[in-house]
Amino acid sequence: MDRAEDANRVLIFDTTLRDGEQSPGISLNTQEKLEIAQQLARLGVDVIEAGFPITSPGDFEAVQEIARKVEGPVICALARTAASDIERAWEAVRDAARARIHVFIATSDLHIRHKLQTTREDVLGQARAAVAHARQLVDDVEFSPEDGFRSDRQFMAEVISAAIEEGATTINVPDTVGYATPDEYAAMFTELYALVPQLREVTVSVHCHDDLGLAVANSLAGLRAGCRQVECAVNGIGERAGNASLEEIVMVLQTRAPYLGLSTGVDTREIARTSRLVSRLTGYPVQPNKAIVGRNAFAHEAGIHQDGVLKERTTYEIMDATSVGLDANSIVLGKHSGRHALRRALSELGFEVDGQSLNTAFKRFKEIADKKKLLTAMDLEALVTDELREQSVGYQLEWFDVEASSRRPPHATVGVRSPEGEELVGSFTGDGPVDAIFRAINAATGVDARLREFRVDAVTGGQDALGDTSVVVEVGGVIGAGQGVSTDILEAGARAYVRALSNAIRRRAARADEAAASAESVPTP
Ligand code: KIV
Ligand code: ZN
Repeated sequence: MDRAEDANRVLIFDTTLRDGEQSPGISLNTQEKLEIAQQLARLGVDVIEAGFPITSPGDFEAVQEIARKVEGPVICALARTAASDIERAWEAVRDAARARIHVFIATSDLHIRHKLQTTREDVLGQARAAVAHARQLVDDVEFSPEDGFRSDRQFMAEVISAAIEEGATTINVPDTVGYATPDEYAAMFTELYALVPQLREVTVSVHCHDDLGLAVANSLAGLRAGCRQVECAVNGIGERAGNASLEEIVMVLQTRAPYLGLSTGVDTREIARTSRLVSRLTGYPVQPNKAIVGRNAFAHEAGIHQDGVLKERTTYEIMDATSVGLDANSIVLGKHSGRHALRRALSELGFEVDGQSLNTAFKRFKEIADKKKLLTAMDLEALVTDELREQSVGYQLEWFDVEASSRRPPHATVGVRSPEGEELVGSFTGDGPVDAIFRAINAATGVDARLREFRVDAVTGGQDALGDTSVVVEVGGVIGAGQGVSTDILEAGARAYVRALSNAIRRRAARADEAAASAESVPTP
C-alpha cells in the first residue's frame, strides 16, 4: 500500500505461523498451516509471515504451499543473515503474487557477545550484506535488529541506516524479550526517528512479546510514536508468554478509532472464527476471560449488568459481539439435511470441500446429527477442523471399549491405526475411564506418553453440545498438544490424546534430525 495514500492506516503483519508456531507443543502440518493462512487472508491481514524455511523441510514446504495458494496478503519468510537462509526463504516465497523476505540479526551487546559471539562491526557488515542480497531477489525486504529494545541506540541506528541504504523497505524493531514499558518503547522510536531520518521513507514496525503482559500496550505505544506496521499473532500465541494478540490490537484500533485516529484493513467479523480455528489446530485453548475472543468476553453475570445490557447494550458493552463474529450460533443443519446442504453450509463458513473430503465430512456429520439433533455453524466448524487434523500423518484412533463402574477400576481396550497402516490394540485398567483409555493408547502404540494437561470444553451450550477436548502430553521430554471433538467426551479425549502423542513423536523426530545436522542447526529467534 502506498503510505502517502493513508498515513493513518496500520498494516497488520500476522506471525501466527512463524513466531506463534514457536510455542511449546505446537506442531502444525502443511495442510493445517494452509488452512490457517487462508483464514488469515479472509480476515484481511496485510502480511502473513508463513514460516522460517531454512529450519526444516516441513517449514519450507508449508511456506511454499501458502505462497502458491493464498491470495491477497503479502507472503513473508524469515531468514538469518546467512546467504543460504536468504536463498531458502526466497525459494519458498518466490511464487507468491507479493513476496517478502524478512532478515534479522541481533544488535544488543548481550546477544552479540553471548549468542553470536562476534563484534558489533561484524553484525553491521552482516546486516548490510544480507539486506543487499535479499534486495537482489525481491523488492520487498524487511529488516529486524533482534533484541532491538535492549540494544545500544546509536549502534542500532547505524545498523538500521545501513539496512535502509541497502534497500530495506520495512524496519521492524522488536522487544524480543518483552522487557519494555509503553512509554520507553515509544521513546525508543522517537529517538530512532531523530537518529535515522530516513526511517520516514520506509514502513516502521513494532514487534512485542508479552513476558510482562505489556505486548499490546507496547505495540500501541509504538503506533502512537509513528510506526505503521504491527506484528502480532492470533490469540497472542508465541514464544514464552506469546506475541501481541492480533484481535486485541485490531479491536483497540477499531473501538478507539475516534481517539487514536488509526485504522486497519481487517474484517473484524472474521475474528472469532480465526481464533477458534487457531485454537483447535494448535491445541492451545483460549482462556475464558481473554479479551475479545474469550468465552466470557461478552458474558454478563451480575444481575445489575444483565439488567443494564437488556435496557441498553452500551451500558456495559464497549463492543458489539457481532462485530467480532460472535453471531455464528444460529442453527444451520439438522439430521435430515443432505450432502448439498452440508456443502453449502461449509462453503459459507469458508471451507471448500468436494469429492472424498465431502464424503468423509458428510459421514461424520450424519453420525453427529444422529446424536445431536441440530448442528450450528460452530459445530460444523469444529467438525471440519477435527477432520482436518485426522488427515495429518501419525497414529489414528479406530475404536475403543471402556467398562466403567463405581465398584471396580475401569478397564479400556483401544484400536489405533499406526502411520504405516497397521491396526494396533492395547488394554489398560486405570484409575478412571479417561486414564484407562489414555494408558491403553500408550500400550497399543508402545509409546510412554505422560499426560500433562487435559481439558474439556463445550463447543456450544446445551446438554447435547459437542465436547471439545485439549490434551498435552510429554514423550521423552518433548511436549505435544492435540484436540478432539465429539458428542462423547471419552471419544473426543481419546482422539485428542492420540493426536498429542503423534505430535510429540513428530517433534521428537524433528529434534533428532536437527541434532544430527547440528553443524547447520538453526537457533530460532
Ligand atoms: O522477537 C523477535 O525478535 C523476533 C524477530 C525475528 C523479529 O521474532
Ligand atoms: Zn518475536
